[in-house]
Amino acid sequence: MSVAARLLGWYDAHARALPWRARPGRPADAYGVWLSEIMLQQTTVAAVKPYYEKFLALWPRVEDLAAAPVDEVMKAWAGLGYYSRARNLHAAAQAVARDHAGRFPDTEDGLRGLPGVGPYTAAAIAAIAFGRRAVVVDGNVERVVTRLFRIETPLPGGRPAIRAATDAITPEARAGDFAQAMMDLGATLCSPRRPACALCPLMQDCAAREAGVQELLPTRAPKPERPKRAGAVFYLRRADGAVLLRTRPPKGLLGGMAELPGGAWRADFDEADALAAAPARANWRRLAGRVAHVFTHFELALSVYVADAPQDAPAPEGARWVAADAVDGEALPNVMRKALALAREDAR
Ligand code: ADE
Repeated sequence: MSVAARLLGWYDAHARALPWRARPGRPADAYGVWLSEIMLQQTTVAAVKPYYEKFLALWPRVEDLAAAPVDEVMKAWAGLGYYSRARNLHAAAQAVARDHAGRFPDTEDGLRGLPGVGPYTAAAIAAIAFGRRAVVVDGNVERVVTRLFRIETPLPGGRPAIRAATDAITPEARAGDFAQAMMDLGATLCSPRRPACALCPLMQDCAAREAGVQELLPTRAPKPERPKRAGAVFYLRRADGAVLLRTRPPKGLLGGMAELPGGAWRADFDEADALAAAPARANWRRLAGRVAHVFTHFELALSVYVADAPQDAPAPEGARWVAADAVDGEALPNVMRKALALAREDAR
């Protein structure tokens, strides 16, 4: 029996029940598959599940999502991270509704024409939603294949070999189930540490296991350390509890998301100059501690300043007062939610 046949047999019995999945052997709805794959980029299944359910409840069809105001989509996405995904999601929904009569392209090439759909995501959707034979390699698959074939080249240099090996074992039929079975194997049995080889359907095929080196693979080239940046944000609160927020520019990091006003995030941030970026004159008080947040390309530490504003204070240019009970519904990224939490704790 082939590796694929053994793996599919295991999948038929042990597939994780996930809300975007069809039963083994059945094609899944393209809209749901696409939505889940975009959400699952750099994000865990556990984090994605509630967002996936929320999006489908709000926008059951791709046309509904296309017709939604982009701000509503950003709000619904808030907390999931990597916000350019939300903007691209909306743009892709509009492209499908407008250019493709509401039907997703059913080939890898066609899918890659959609905003936010790269080679991995196109392959995953083509296989899972359309049953096409496509070579699907995500982080979990990378680990499984590295072990199966005992690929000892450190990542990322080993990727071409991993891709070729995955191609070699991908079946013509049930490529979508095969891809998801590989993902599930990586997420459950073939875990980074202490893999459960005794339960693995591919134990007899696994070169790393044969050599006893499964826990040592994959190896990775050392990552350069993340640079550090710092900055300050300002929590200005009116007597009625409204808070001053602003919206970030549409492009770039956290594009289009809401935030507390503040200065630039810089490697050479100097606390002594922080107040120069305050949105208004006020009796600013710096809270103890800092908000820490890790972005892909840098680590951020934010000081938080708080002050009270008179009830009739106008919102400065580029900022707006948001009523106390509307703040949590804003498209606030996690770093800003942390800053708000610190400020609110102080106010109690
Ligand atoms: N990660 C990315 N896509 C996935 C899927 N379809 N099933 C499980 N994990 C995934």
